Amino acid sequence: MTSTPILFTQTSIGKLALKNRLAVAPMTRISASAEGLATDDMARYYARFARGGYGLLITEGVYPDVRHSQGYLYQPGIGNDAQARAWRKVIEGVHAEGAKIFVQLMHAGALSQGSHWSTETIGPSAVQPVGKQMSFYRGEGAYPIAREITPDEITQLIQDFADAAARAKDVGFDGIEIHGANGYILDQFLTAYSNQREDRYGGATENRVRLLVEVSQAVRHAVGPEFPVGIRISQGKVNDFVHKWANGVDDASVIFGHLGKAGLDYIHVTEYDATQPAFGTGPTLVELAKRYAGLPIIANGQLEEPAKAAALLATGAVDVIALGKGALADRDWPQKVLRNEPLAEFDYALLQPLAHIKPSET
Ligand SMILES: Cc1cc2nc3c(=O)[nH]c(=O)nc-3n(C[C@H](O)[C@H](O)[C@H](O)COP(=O)(O)O)c2cc1C
Repeated sequence: MTSTPILFTQTSIGKLALKNRLAVAPMTRISASAEGLATDDMARYYARFARGGYGLLITEGVYPDVRHSQGYLYQPGIGNDAQARAWRKVIEGVHAEGAKIFVQLMHAGALSQGSHWSTETIGPSAVQPVGKQMSFYRGEGAYPIAREITPDEITQLIQDFADAAARAKDVGFDGIEIHGANGYILDQFLTAYSNQREDRYGGATENRVRLLVEVSQAVRHAVGPEFPVGIRISQGKVNDFVHKWANGVDDASVIFGHLGKAGLDYIHVTEYDATQPAFGTGPTLVELAKRYAGLPIIANGQLEEPAKAAALLATGAVDVIALGKGALADRDWPQKVLRNEPLAEFDYALLQPLAHIKPSET
């Protein structure tokens, strides 16, 4: 483990300095109140990662509006002032331990399995999502067929992301991550089979990435030029792990090229294994993101082995490493790697039968 000092070098995202290259990936833990208020347990849970040495925490997916965006019962929101204020204790706890915290804004769209605010799901087109709902988030069976979102609702959705970002900045978050990945509504627009629209948001890849760009621009406008804003992008989805962009590198150049000009400070790329070629052979998705967006890149996907994470950083294609299951397994991962101590392994039992935060995590 002597080859990992690069993990502990400083970096920055936009104007924000980070003490090291280690982030906790966004992970939904359905532990808020029914109305979407962050709880004291959540504050203790997040602070614990900060104490373990991670420089940056990205929250679980947080719903931006109290209309259609909530994906899971007991998911936290930031769609009104009460929800925003409830995050203060979480943010203060993380800051007290010396880390930064970004909120991930997530609109579940057609993959919503449970909502305090809506009885219907919306998506780019009236299509039934593939796959099955997740039982560890209280879902069961097939996803319902979504109602096609109207042009006015698209305008509203963009505004809702912007308003949520403004609330997040007001209550003290250090940055915004727009969830453009993993099958949720922005990724539903990006994906040909879930987006059958014939307006300017559907069809060619340029059109399918438009909503991601417009949300990014609106969020940037809402928080001003100095505040960190990024977007998370993936090929795979929670309901379709193996999905690949049909036009391979050409799609990557269009998607990352447009996002690179959308006023963002970083792109967070998640793949099953971030070090593997994106399309069977050739470059990884993180390399393609760096090449075509030219922004700082957060990489995620099976990077919990310290030497592997350090080697990826050393390629120069990646600026920050985000750990998901590796962080759940070992909240002290950064401190332990520094001290050359053995790391704990992830046990799926932690998330069964439900994915809520367990007493051992608070
Ligand atoms: C319990 C759990 C909840 C997750 N929730 C989210 C989420 O809210 N937003 C998101 O972008 N990714 C979410 N993910 C995906 C992780 O951020 C990450 O991409 C995934 O675990 C793969 O990275 P890893 O190999 O480091 O675990 C979740 C993963 C897990 C295990």
